[in-house]
Amino acid sequence: PVPVLTIDGPSGSGKGTISRAVADALGWHLLDSGAIYRAVGYAAGMAGIDLSDAQAVTRCAETTKIVFRDPRDGGETRVIVNGHDATDELRTETCGAAASAIAAIPAVRAALFDKQRSFRKAPGLVADGRDMGTVVFADAEHKIFLTASAEERARRRYKQLKEKGLTVTLSSLLREIEARDERDATRKVAPLKPAAGAVVIDSTAIPIDQVIARVLAVVRP
Ligand code: CDP
Repeated sequence: PVPVLTIDGPSGSGKGTISRAVADALGWHLLDSGAIYRAVGYAAGMAGIDLSDAQAVTRCAETTKIVFRDPRDGGETRVIVNGHDATDELRTETCGAAASAIAAIPAVRAALFDKQRSFRKAPGLVADGRDMGTVVFADAEHKIFLTASAEERARRRYKQLKEKGLTVTLSSLLREIEARDERDATRKVAPLKPAAGAVVIDSTAIPIDQVIARVLAVVRP
């Protein structure tokens, strides 16, 4: 089977940056599963769907067209939702919260399985998310669980959003991140937790390039 490295963890643990760097270093494909949940949350919002209406949101998950497009110049991957480039909107905490709300609906998760699994292509896949190692790629040979303190994660996300020119306060971001963590960890379906056999890395006090080196060492000891 095509090798898979799963990288799961809470918001702001550095998963996005690390998954991208590791995929590039290995020459493997990358699945940003969070972007898929964000895209569905975004599409549902655009369509005026009540996020607690499980049936309507599930239909939205089944029909939303999500395309990842890598620019020729090697810039960041664009996410096209129903034909609209929604990359910047998807990164907001509003979309993060919408993603977390719809991600708690079992039928929504089921509707997104095949799409996520279709990213498994030679020579390999780095899968970034919350349930990559526990559910979607439970048979993966390499599994990482990345974490960091909530304060450090809020600081990183704050920096990221500020660089994008978005106005947020650190304290409100910390509250939102803690609320989202709580919902992700306590939901009945695919709660956030380390997969059996996952290598747990706490990145609170480790610089990003050292985290990348540790993850690469798991795949290529
Ligand atoms: O970037 P960040 O870690 O903040 O969020 P994300 O990975 O883009 O995911 C946004 C939300 O989608 C999470 O809070 C989860 O509720 C949900 N999600 C999920 O349930 N399963 C995944 N595999 C990925 C994301």
